[in-house]
Amino acid sequence: MTQVGIDKISFYVPEHYVALSTLAEAQGIDPDKFSRGIGQNKIAMPTHDEDVVTLAAEAAAKVIADEDVDAIDTILFATETGIDQSKAAGVYVHELLKLSRRCRVVELKHACYSGTAALQLACGHVTRKPDRKVLVIASDISRYDLDSPAEATQGCGAVAMLVSIDPKLLAIEPASGCHSEDIMDFWRPNYRKTPLVDGKFSTIKYLGALSGAWEDYQENGGRGFNELAQFCYHLPFTRMGAKAHRQLSSINKAQNDPSVIEPGMIYNREVGNCYAASLYVSLISMLENADHDLTGLPVGLFSYGSGAVAEFFAATVQNRYRERLMKVHHQGLLKNRTALTFDQYRDMWNVPDPQDGVACIMPNAARGRYRLTRIDEHKRHYEAA
Ligand code: HMG
Repeated sequence: MTQVGIDKISFYVPEHYVALSTLAEAQGIDPDKFSRGIGQNKIAMPTHDEDVVTLAAEAAAKVIADEDVDAIDTILFATETGIDQSKAAGVYVHELLKLSRRCRVVELKHACYSGTAALQLACGHVTRKPDRKVLVIASDISRYDLDSPAEATQGCGAVAMLVSIDPKLLAIEPASGCHSEDIMDFWRPNYRKTPLVDGKFSTIKYLGALSGAWEDYQENGGRGFNELAQFCYHLPFTRMGAKAHRQLSSINKAQNDPSVIEPGMIYNREVGNCYAASLYVSLISMLENADHDLTGLPVGLFSYGSGAVAEFFAATVQNRYRERLMKVHHQGLLKNRTALTFDQYRDMWNVPDPQDGVACIMPNAARGRYRLTRIDEHKRHYEAA
């Protein structure tokens, strides 16, 4: 059977971040609550000329470099940080990257799950049209109310993946298990900048959805727990993944071995929650940081989006996968960043979004090639340096 999956993958994070030790000090909280209690170190913060489009374009530019871009006939853009109620954010990325006009571009939404929906739909498309490729993008900015328990779990980032037949990195296996349930654990009505969240309830529902998706995965002919060499979880914060793995180990009466999740948590600790992109930042982290050779081995992935939709599936690591990774680039992005003071972070957070019809020029602050230059007459203008 023809294999389909991820041929290339990359992520992007902006230059600025706030260290959780800074947040802890300013708020009189024990820093161990963040580093150990939720397992996070930093929150990636966008500047005002960065948004889900510019983050996505940065990640995608790396993925399409030196590839046959004319084969890309579809862009699936997964986000819950929409910039327009009608126009898909991916259309701006399509233009910035100068991709072929013979392309369909669409935006997908279901909280943090939509990146996985996009990936599965892309696999279906290239199975039907094996000479085509799909650019899958997950890009999000996670914002919560200031001084709320969720503030420490903010972050942002984008992941781009090129999906094709005969993928050089990961073959996505056909078996998967889903769990959907109409619940109010986290949601953002159109009139709000920040989501409403029932934090403790959301962690319980995440774990319930994991059990449901795993059971369905098993019934659909999925692999046994012990066959999977590594596990990547949706990581709103890395402690959530540790709890998820403890539960899955227990369901399967297996030992809870932290070494099969730790490589997939290293980058997420430094970025924070980036919603739809989080699972795929974890996937990149796992591939780039697992110290043993993963060639030919299946890895498990669990995607959760509040509201709620979840999916468990697996991917097999391909021969010579290490040659396709961009480890130096990714580690450079994480290392070469600028820390914000608490006041700088709050000032940045509090800058109001442009209101109805007011022209707004964005100060030039993004470190990347792509930036939002202005919003004028209700239109967003981007440029590529
Ligand atoms: P909180 O009130 O800070 O929770 O909120 P806490 O007081 O229970 O502390 C958290 C942990 O730190 C606890 O450990 C404490 O014991 C520990 P646990 O009981 O969990 O094992 N702790 C310490 N450890 C060491 N030293 C200390 C210390 N103090 C306390 N000194 C909460 C936590 C997650 C609720 C909050 O951050 C929140 O609301 N976050 C947003 C919601 C969220 O991320 N939910 C996750 C599941 S839902 C999901 O993943 C979907 C999502 O990504 C959205 C989407 O799909 O679009 C969110």
